[in-house]
Amino acid sequence: VKTIAVLTGGGDAPGLNAVIRAVVRTALGKGLAVWGIKNGFGGMVENQMFAMTDESVAGILPRGGTILGTTNRDNPFNFQTVKDGQVIYENKSEQALENLRQAGIDALVVIGGDGTLKIASEFYEMGLPVVAVPKTIDNDIPGTERTFGFDTAVGVATDALDRLHTTAESHHRVMVLEVMGRYAGWIALHAGMAGGADCILIPEIPFVTESVIAKIRERQQHGRQFSLIVIAEGAFPQGGELSVARIVEGSHEKIRLGGIGEKLTREIEKLTGVESRCTVLGHVQRGGTPTAFDRILSTRYGVAAVDCMIDGTFGNMVALQKNQIIRVPIADIAGKAHNVTADNELLKAGRAIGICFGD
Ligand code: F6P
Repeated sequence: VKTIAVLTGGGDAPGLNAVIRAVVRTALGKGLAVWGIKNGFGGMVENQMFAMTDESVAGILPRGGTILGTTNRDNPFNFQTVKDGQVIYENKSEQALENLRQAGIDALVVIGGDGTLKIASEFYEMGLPVVAVPKTIDNDIPGTERTFGFDTAVGVATDALDRLHTTAESHHRVMVLEVMGRYAGWIALHAGMAGGADCILIPEIPFVTESVIAKIRERQQHGRQFSLIVIAEGAFPQGGELSVARIVEGSHEKIRLGGIGEKLTREIEKLTGVESRCTVLGHVQRGGTPTAFDRILSTRYGVAAVDCMIDGTFGNMVALQKNQIIRVPIADIAGKAHNVTADNELLKAGRAIGICFGD
């Protein structure tokens, strides 16, 4: 391998730039040439590539977002184009590979979440040497204990809880915070524990509204006239349905989560008579500067990805297990999920200190 390329795909996460910086610096240091591909896999199809230098990554370590741009729309295997005023979907994967060949690119570092990993795995099967880096604030990628971006999102959500705590206490209100995480409860669990929530509701444990109400009443009996609830956007009541909005874009169906926090808040107010408010934290969790932990993890991932290139070991995702960076085959993880399980140590700790999980 003499020339590699790097792209970022899917939603952004704090630490993307730190990975790009580590990839570029390590590769250049080892005598490889590096190309940046703009706007994810769309840029690979549309030939948006540029040669990267040390200068391209100067000063980007603490910056949120991605200097390469990203999108969770473009899939080269089902690529959206407009022909004669009509939106059509075509397989442009050969075109994308041809663009890499023309630029003399031998291998690709893909930084992304499950959708990106799935595309990376398909390209690998077509013969493209690929190495993946696990990115998402949701921490829901299997094979790794941590994705970068998660720690920052947890920090933002914890800060929000600290702020909601003082206003909840002053107004004797119930404050509900809805956090991201898709179908996983990692952000809710970690931020709820760090921010001293009274109830943490996660998708893995369908909640019982009466348990939440009982918790609020129990606190009132102990003189605490306010409560703090964290609910993951993917949480849903026992026997109820996942709260989703289906958005149909062309032939793609996107599922947008959210709204469950507001629903629960209205119910709490109705059943307890306590004035209640909901805050939906949203994309604030994804923006801005990464924490020290995420900067370090991202840097380790970037270096490890280039090490795979140097070794000539492809088809893997770099991952964190027991604080060691390891390699796991992308084929083993693509399309799978990593969720909070019943034996999770933090979940058990939460139960031990009396935090209601809604079951
Ligand atoms: O996967 C990251 C994430 O932020 C999820 O937590 C959230 O459900 C989703 O992306 C939001 O996606 P979008 O930015 O497309 O609204």
